[in-house]
Amino acid sequence: MDILVGTSSKMNLASSEATPYLDTVRSLVNDVIDREIFVLLPFTSIWVARDRLAGSNVRWGAQDVHPDDSGPHTGDVSAPMLVDLGCTYVEVGHHERRRDHAETNELVAAKVEAIQRWGMTAIVCVGEGRRSPLDAVLATVDDQLRLLARCDPRRLVIAYEPAWAIGEGASPADPEWVGSVHAEIRAALPMTRGEAATLPIIYGGSVGLAGAGRLLGQAGVDGLFVGRMALDPRVFAAIAHVEPERLDESER
Ligand code: PGA
Repeated sequence: MDILVGTSSKMNLASSEATPYLDTVRSLVNDVIDREIFVLLPFTSIWVARDRLAGSNVRWGAQDVHPDDSGPHTGDVSAPMLVDLGCTYVEVGHHERRRDHAETNELVAAKVEAIQRWGMTAIVCVGEGRRSPLDAVLATVDDQLRLLARCDPRRLVIAYEPAWAIGEGASPADPEWVGSVHAEIRAALPMTRGEAATLPIIYGGSVGLAGAGRLLGQAGVDGLFVGRMALDPRVFAAIAHVEPERLDESER
């Protein structure tokens, strides 16, 4: 599978700021052929992505969606509205949404269903709140994944994002830790082994240019999900070019 390199700008990049940002990203990654690159913007800026990225090798999408297609849900945005703006990807279940909006695993699963019903790919964020031993992490992740049993594995990306590695002041999880959690996530996916083997599992949490190669070098790390570092379009474009770095046996 192609390596995925994406970013969510979170509550940054208003429509007027999105134009120069996207133009810069587009021009700096137009030589990348073997990767899937995507940018998830606030709802109010997605139309800019449609205008500036159409015909490029950069896909775009949203950071959330309502599970219903239409109706009395003031302030919400539905999957058909995102399709109308050309979205390919929709992120759900991010730690900040679970925290700020009390989103449950049930709600996340309902959103995934809506996203897939409309032909888009869901990026489901999973991960533990605080640093914990591997078995405790797996218990949390297992709960987060269990309700995805009925979804279409061909339109699904899992993003492992430990909350303790996200945001200002945090640092990325150790690549070897990420590699072992990804292997466990793959084993815990509620689908056939064949489906699980081809499902992309990407890592997010303080990803920057330094360290990106080592994360990508881990078996089972299929891509990177970049947050604040990607607010500089040059850094995001540079991360999109990083080659996986595999440690020699002698360096272990
Ligand atoms: P960060 O955000 O890179 O700013 O830590 C990552 C994320 O939340 O996906």
